[in-house]
Amino acid sequence: MKYAHIIGWGKYTPERILTNDEMSTMMDTNDEWIRSRSGIGARRWARKDETLADMATASAVAAIEHAGIVVSEIDMVIVATATAIFPATACIVQDRLGIPNAGAVDLVVACSGFVYSLAMAGDMVKAGSKNCVLVIGVEKLSPMMNLEDRGTAVLFGDGAGAVIVRGSAQPGGILASVLYADGSGGDDLYLNDKRHLVMNGREVYKFATRAMPAAAKEVMSKVGWRSAQVDLLIPHQANIRIIESASKVLGIPMEKVFVNIEKYGNTSAASVPLAICEAVDQGRLRSNDKTILVGFGAGLAWGAVAIVWDVPHPSSKTKQVLNRAAYNGAKVRSRFKRALRQLSDKLSNRSDKK
Ligand SMILES: CC(C)(COP(=O)(O)OP(=O)(O)OC[C@H]1O[C@@H](n2cnc3c(N)ncnc32)[C@H](O)[C@@H]1OP(=O)(O)O)[C@@H](O)C(=O)NCCC(=O)NCCS
Repeated sequence: MKYAHIIGWGKYTPERILTNDEMSTMMDTNDEWIRSRSGIGARRWARKDETLADMATASAVAAIEHAGIVVSEIDMVIVATATAIFPATACIVQDRLGIPNAGAVDLVVACSGFVYSLAMAGDMVKAGSKNCVLVIGVEKLSPMMNLEDRGTAVLFGDGAGAVIVRGSAQPGGILASVLYADGSGGDDLYLNDKRHLVMNGREVYKFATRAMPAAAKEVMSKVGWRSAQVDLLIPHQANIRIIESASKVLGIPMEKVFVNIEKYGNTSAASVPLAICEAVDQGRLRSNDKTILVGFGAGLAWGAVAIVWDVPHPSSKTKQVLNRAAYNGAKVRSRFKRALRQLSDKLSNRSDKK
């Protein structure tokens, strides 16, 4: 039997920190309102010239280094993002990292995107169709904020988090998942024609307080865990009140719930992997911990994953050197392939004219 373990994790957060006080210089709001209604104290905003692929690649490099693998081991790249572009960010990441033999796809399930992607990566690895999957959650939501809509603009931020999921014979890792959607609620949270995020906050709040505990409960029952056995719940960081409500319903005390919404706000698909990285850094996520990840958001969509956290992998200096060479080589390889494509285009045009 094959298992799917998370063996590496990494994050990237843009440098620019926007505090609530700074938000209140842009619109009619204040720190007290934002904190008491959402638990958010600040958020990160990416630079204008900082792309989704830049952020995704930075988090991926950190995860690869942590995992102690060489990039050529990766055979699939999944990028969860609500801010999808064309071509897929996953393809840009694959090219930038010089991953030679991998599929690459973007998954657009907004705030549930990372949980969906992780569940799918786990299933691919367990089924044997892929063995080493790079899963990234990345968002650049700041350009989608309508600064005239204070109820929404104060809640969201930018960032990226990545994990490496790899096959192993050792029991544990990603054990089970549940994934759901209800498209009839699509107009509660969507991008309008101006590419501004529009939200019916009250409806989304009601949905989230129902969906989050329901998904967590179902995945717990799939793996046979009682609330008391869960070591850490890592929920999507949308609103502290939603998280506290779920903690009560589930009977999992807040000491066993990871929260970092104060620093980043709602980073949609990036929120769960960012939380994973910080939970590990803070010693809140340890080997063999029974962990539940939950996502919910636009779609409407929601889901949960049950994981037994893996033993940390030692990173390897030699592999790091090899990877750095691969990243540098990737630029050259990409340019060479482009030039080759242009040349073959010219040649075929010439032979067409003859
Ligand atoms: C958005 C949310 C924080 C609003 O909280 P709320 O308690 O429902 O607040 P309301 O929308 O009822 O607004 C209450 C008042 O605050 C005002 N208000 C809204 N945004 C404000 C802001 N940023 N600053 C100050 N006042 C604000 C409203 O205008 C309203 O004023 P009024 O009573 O004079 O009309 C809450 O509905 C929520 O968290 N929803 C879920 C959002 C979410 O998690 N989305 C992502 C899911 S992935």
